[in-house]
Amino acid sequence: MKLFVDTADLNEIETLASWGVLKGVTTNPSLLNQVEGDEISIYRRICELVDGPISAEVIVEGREQMVSEGRRLAAIHPNIVVKIPTSADGLAATAALAAEGIAVNMTLCFTAPQALLAASSGARYVSPFVGRYDDIGNNGIEALREVVEALWGFESEVEVLAASIRSPIHVVEAAKMGADIATIPPKVFRQMLEHPLTNVGLEKFNADAAARHARLGG
Ligand code: G3P
Repeated sequence: MKLFVDTADLNEIETLASWGVLKGVTTNPSLLNQVEGDEISIYRRICELVDGPISAEVIVEGREQMVSEGRRLAAIHPNIVVKIPTSADGLAATAALAAEGIAVNMTLCFTAPQALLAASSGARYVSPFVGRYDDIGNNGIEALREVVEALWGFESEVEVLAASIRSPIHVVEAAKMGADIATIPPKVFRQMLEHPLTNVGLEKFNADAAARHARLGG
């Protein structure tokens, strides 16, 4: 499973890119609203930092408007993926953009039927939201599993991009069920890395190495 970061924060993206684990980036209007600067410059910089699919979301309604906005976003960089919400207009816009060879990430997907429609419209990525499904008392991981199973063997090259990830457990469950991608907030990346036994073990190794050096020199 490929790991993407879910943020528009350039410092966070630069840091996580330096770990060597990032295969792509997703953004959305709420994440963009948390940072300063014009969106085109932000997308360009993200494309410099990470060599992989970079999702940029349309913020207009209506099929024609989404298609125009999608073309505008796709023209920023070859790695831009146009993020479009799951709706009738969104499906129609996805079909139009896909026919032009523009990759679409269909977002705000919650169920397998929605995912099947997204895939049939030509979406390159389908993004089921795990955490937001949990938020309303459902089981987001089970809903994600339904999507993965429903799209398994689908005729197109659609990839399931697990979104609204809230914990390392979500990431591991997504990987175990065979999701293609998980887009992960920076905080969850750090939670994935940290473990108290790793820290304790490193302190012990460093102390023992220093003790040996003090005893033997060199
Ligand atoms: O980018 C879409 C998705 O990952 C949003 O997550 O945490 O706002 O539900 P969240």
